[in-house]
Amino acid sequence: MCQPVTSHQTKATVLFNQQLTKTQFLLRLQASDGIKEAKPGHFIHLNCHPSLTLPRPFSILDTDIKQGTLDVFYQVVGEGTQHMAGWQAGFETTMLSPIGCHFTKPDSDQNALLIAGGIGYAPLDFFARELKKQGVKTTLLLGIESDPPFELTSSSTPLLSYDPIKNPLSISRQEAMGIPSRLSSLEEKPGFYKGYVTQLAAKILQKMDTKECENTRLYVCGPTPMMKAAALVASQFKIGGQVSLEEHMACGFGGCAGCVAPIRDADDSWNYRRVCTDGPVFDLNDVVWEKI
Ligand SMILES: Cc1cc2nc3c(=O)[nH]c(=O)nc-3n(C[C@H](O)[C@H](O)[C@H](O)COP(=O)(O)OP(=O)(O)OC[C@H]3O[C@@H](n4cnc5c(N)ncnc54)[C@H](O)[C@@H]3O)c2cc1C
Ligand code: FES
Repeated sequence: MCQPVTSHQTKATVLFNQQLTKTQFLLRLQASDGIKEAKPGHFIHLNCHPSLTLPRPFSILDTDIKQGTLDVFYQVVGEGTQHMAGWQAGFETTMLSPIGCHFTKPDSDQNALLIAGGIGYAPLDFFARELKKQGVKTTLLLGIESDPPFELTSSSTPLLSYDPIKNPLSISRQEAMGIPSRLSSLEEKPGFYKGYVTQLAAKILQKMDTKECENTRLYVCGPTPMMKAAALVASQFKIGGQVSLEEHMACGFGGCAGCVAPIRDADDSWNYRRVCTDGPVFDLNDVVWEKI
């Protein structure tokens, strides 16, 4: 079990709140605490409005330690995020940051295949860039059915071994760092793989030689059916990895057990663990998927 980071309750000031699509926003917050400790996979608990008793959890998309800023990529789904969509530069709120257990990088001889679905892109964008900085061979796959929130570009960075897409598009902010990325959609779209993102991952793994496949770790975040499918891919190819789970949260600091998920113990029994402080990142093969 991981050692969760020490969190700080801190004031956060909106620097910008840019609308990316009809329902998705990029929010930059400035805060005096809770930035420098933040690692990919950590999240914040953000107070959206005084009328709402509970804060809302959001993955950290990026940080700038020098500037004291933290970015969040969010989707408007309900009351809290609707309040957030109206925030202007200078708006002040409070948050708990950072929270939980972060992703851990693969061993030095391993490579990382990141599989994101929709808004689950946020922690994996951060992780991909951190892995690249640390010299880990990293590929990011994103399954997306709505308008892409971030700019896309023709890909010039080759995939690990095999590319199932002709003339692929990639995500500019990853491409700019030399990280290969690919997109999938269930609809036919030029430059995208047609199908589920987990099918795209399986195609890539299938074409790897045995050693490269054995040396690949999966990192997953997205809707529950997608995470379950990714766990199946991991077991099909006998590889490991990590997943960032999403659960409804109340306190956000481990006090209420309102956010539990079934997680296997070392002796193969299982227990409910708190997603906020025992996670949100868990070993992909430790999650008891049939109980979620
Ligand atoms: C660790 C973690 C990281 C997250 N990271 C992000 C992120 O980076 N960007 C982002 O847009 N969202 C993220 N979420 C989901 C986000 O917390 C919810 O969308 C948000 O709390 C909804 O608040 P609301 O008041 O707008 O909606 P509510 O009115 O509370 O709910 C609206 C709808 O969203 C669903 N919902 C609410 N909370 C959650 C939740 N925790 N998980 C799944 N579904 C939920 C509800 O069932 C309902 O259908 C994350 C959740 C967790 C637990
Ligand atoms: S939200 Fe209270 S224990 Fe996780």
